[in-house]
Amino acid sequence: MIKKASCYSQMFVPSLMNQEAPQENGEEDKEVVAEIMARCFVPTVITNISWEGFHFVGHEIRIAEATDCYGAVVWPSALVLCYFLETNVKQYNMADKNVIEIGAGTGLVSIVASLLGAQVTATDLPELLGNLQYNISHNTKAKSKHPPQVKELSWGVGLDQHFPRATCTFDYILAADVVYAHPFLDQLLLTFQHLCKETTVILWAMRFRLDKENRFVEQVKELFDLEEIASFPSLNIKLYKAVKRNRGSA
Ligand SMILES: C[S@@+](CC[C@H](N)C(=O)[O-])C[C@H]1O[C@@H](n2cnc3c(N)ncnc32)[C@H](O)[C@@H]1O
Repeated sequence: MIKKASCYSQMFVPSLMNQEAPQENGEEDKEVVAEIMARCFVPTVITNISWEGFHFVGHEIRIAEATDCYGAVVWPSALVLCYFLETNVKQYNMADKNVIEIGAGTGLVSIVASLLGAQVTATDLPELLGNLQYNISHNTKAKSKHPPQVKELSWGVGLDQHFPRATCTFDYILAADVVYAHPFLDQLLLTFQHLCKETTVILWAMRFRLDKENRFVEQVKELFDLEEIASFPSLNIKLYKAVKRNRGSA
């Protein structure tokens, strides 16, 4: 059973992550992880709506959660990716960029990208879209320059129809914790391939649980130039940047 982000949280360490190189040092890892997890808080007043709070980009973000599926809670990889986006704005500037998130779940990553100025399309399976839309609307209305969109994207399904290559050009593809023991890993890879153009950058936070996940990373390496840009051993999470293989050399 994987713990939710809030179970780790509430420690405060005032150092900020701004890293490109993999971080293997145990103490440093723990400090940054504590800083990331401190962005999460639980409401002090109990209400009949179950939500969890987060602090990113100078905003308090409230995420309504459910308990019945993988996409109904915020996973630690999402926090890692949000923190990375917020603390690496110079290198990965979201302002006015066309961004898609796949497997967006409760929408935290899409909300943070939107608050950072991106034109965001948040996607997931149809049954997740109601809660996703609710969270995105409530947290970006009158705060984001570009109103985010919520759209169905079941990996590998109807890609040409719903995301035609001729008109869909994304600067960034964001993904947090989309690789685990589900039967759609081939379709996920296909989706990355379909959405990724010459100039697209994939930022992908991955939690390692089983060997199957290592194999997926090897498959990705065959199709993309993959770079590990941050590592959090205490969470078993790595953050990758991927771009189309041999881009610009054709
Ligand atoms: C572990 S959750 C991560 C959610 C969110 N990114 C986060 O980190 O909090 C995995 C997400 O992938 C989505 N997902 C799983 N299989 C999918 C598929 N075949 N097509 C589209 N999304 C899928 C789930 O609905 C869920 O939102």
